[in-house]
Amino acid sequence: MTIIESLKQRKVTTRTLQEMKEAKKKITSLTAYDALTARILDEAGIDMLLVGDSLGNVVQGHETTIPVTIDEIIYHTKAVIRGVKRSLVVADMPFMSYQVDAKEAFRNAGRLLKEAGAEAIKLEGATSNVLDSVYNMTNSGIPVLGHLGLTPQSIHKFGSYKVRGKDEEESEAIQQAAKNLEQAGACAIVLEKIPATLAATISKELSIPTIGIGAGVGCDGQILVYSDMLGLTVDFNPRFVRKYMTMYENMLSATKNYIDDIEQEQFPNEQESY
Ligand code: KIV
Repeated sequence: MTIIESLKQRKVTTRTLQEMKEAKKKITSLTAYDALTARILDEAGIDMLLVGDSLGNVVQGHETTIPVTIDEIIYHTKAVIRGVKRSLVVADMPFMSYQVDAKEAFRNAGRLLKEAGAEAIKLEGATSNVLDSVYNMTNSGIPVLGHLGLTPQSIHKFGSYKVRGKDEEESEAIQQAAKNLEQAGACAIVLEKIPATLAATISKELSIPTIGIGAGVGCDGQILVYSDMLGLTVDFNPRFVRKYMTMYENMLSATKNYIDDIEQEQFPNEQESY
């Protein structure tokens, strides 16, 4: 069995992500928020499932990820864990669950592992508070993924979801932040919506894996929001999303057929009755 075949079979841990980078096997990742979906994505062989705070948009219908709470992430992470056998399950730390101080961040991260069963956590940015948190958590056995580039929790600071790191100053700041996160002990970094050349440079410079979303093919892995990938979201069409099916249309027409069948007394039939 080759290293890559063995990596594809084993339960994924944060250590496995590192082995994947070293073996040049791309890390595959999607978000998940419930057991049913997690089970399918896991069975398909996805390496990592992120219980992202994007559940604020996808599940709760909010405009931003800001309203999501730590208790909601715990609830959804518990559900995802029940659906998974092989994937690494990472839980997002929502807005204001880690920004106040490193102590509170530490306690909340602990809840994600202890109460929810997450195997790693993710937080956005690389401020000195965040770096302290990464250092403390890593040294206490809580693996941490960083998140740089477009950081949706800072939407009100930036005012838009446009590409980050296009000018030299911001590009250098992101590169430095990535190095700082690695030094603080992060086990991987999500790079969101930055130029492909910048993401490729960071991926080469770091020894830990990078996982891109809108950051080009040079990252060590890729992640998408699962409902975008399946075409369940119709009114969100950034160029970095590739839709692998048209689930919105399929669900719509199946539901219309169901309604017609009931109204025309075609459902249930004899076989479907007792
Ligand atoms: O919350 C989320 O889904 C994320 C991914 C987009 C990386 O952070």
